Amino acid sequence: MAKLRVEDLIVAYGAVIAVSDISFTVEDGEFVSLLGPSGCGKTTTLRCIAGLEGSSGGTIRLGDAIMAADGSDVPPDKRGINMVFQSYAVWPHMSVFENVAYGLRIRRESAADVERKVKEALKLVGLDGFAGRYGTELSGGQQQRVALARAVVTSPRLLLFDEPLSNLDAGLRDRMRFELVELQRRLGQTSLYVTHDQSEAMLMSDRIILMKDGRIVQSGTPRDLYERPMSRFAAEFIGNANIVDATVIRTSGDGSALVGLPGNVAIEGHFCRTDGSRRSGPVLACIRAESISRVSGDEAGSNCFDARVDSLGFLGPLVTCTLRLGEVTLRAELPARKPPSIGETIRVRIEPDDVIIISEH
Ligand SMILES: Nc1ncnc2c1ncn2[C@@H]1O[C@H](COP(=O)(O)OP(=O)(O)OP(=O)(O)O)[C@@H](O)[C@H]1O
Ligand SMILES: [Mg+2]
Repeated sequence: MAKLRVEDLIVAYGAVIAVSDISFTVEDGEFVSLLGPSGCGKTTTLRCIAGLEGSSGGTIRLGDAIMAADGSDVPPDKRGINMVFQSYAVWPHMSVFENVAYGLRIRRESAADVERKVKEALKLVGLDGFAGRYGTELSGGQQQRVALARAVVTSPRLLLFDEPLSNLDAGLRDRMRFELVELQRRLGQTSLYVTHDQSEAMLMSDRIILMKDGRIVQSGTPRDLYERPMSRFAAEFIGNANIVDATVIRTSGDGSALVGLPGNVAIEGHFCRTDGSRRSGPVLACIRAESISRVSGDEAGSNCFDARVDSLGFLGPLVTCTLRLGEVTLRAELPARKPPSIGETIRVRIEPDDVIIISEH
């Protein structure tokens, strides 16, 4: 295992800049996700680290060794990096045992070592008893487990995953998310995971690196990104927030502020940045659906408002509704037990700690 350090990585395909000067680290034993919409450069970054793609600039280090710099690249098979793909890439004409043993045989390990390590790896992924089956005789979830066993059996210094669960049905994907993280923790394996699914990244990662158009827009723990999105893009991509144009009315030294929303609604919130970014004029207010709660009709505390219910959708434990507040429409999630009715005016409270003010408009 080792620490991964990517510095100023650039990848260009002719005129297309797929990855534009990105830098990040993955600490020894850490599980980090690259998250972002389709085409933002996630797979390209991963392929460069694996050595399957050449870079146009920058340095990739694993532990103390340089894997790529200034056009001189260590070949993929000498990097000690294994990658798990969306398509599993399990060889159908080989048994499960031979699929997993492949990397060990290439390294000419002894028959006894191959036998022991393959058995251990199959046990780790819950496939003991499947060694003699062929690739064609496995379900998607079992094939993905074979791909995992094959990736860990050679004890690589770094594991890379490119959307490995996206071909599985929803139920199996949920289970595999937990299994994969549990396996990674048990092995203490340094891992870089690519996904465009924010809930997958939130559930699995120690840290998330959020990408857009070949660049890193923000990185941090899942909680950091959820509680302190620094741009409209981050707020919308993580957790699907209501983003409303607002104007600063007044600020206080501790970062909290009163802002005005269209329709003469004054709401308290706080700036997510601690740096000296703009604190007056037009800003964005980020209000998450789950931070709006219904209160009794006479509640008069701060951030309490009358809101008209415009639509309702039943989700089981919750109803999702659109609320009209001044001239703003907000999506809210309220308990389904005593749902409001369409057209009704209800009293709601929006926790000031949950209103994030972003210095962007
Ligand atoms: N071989 C190639 N030649 C030219 N352009 C490429 C090549 N591979 C990728 N690109 C471009 O580079 C950009 C980044 O692609 P990449 O595959 O890294 O995206 P991604 O984030 O993995 O997207 P997805 O979520 O759809 O897998 C895209 O604009 C893509 O069209
Ligand atoms: Mg991709």
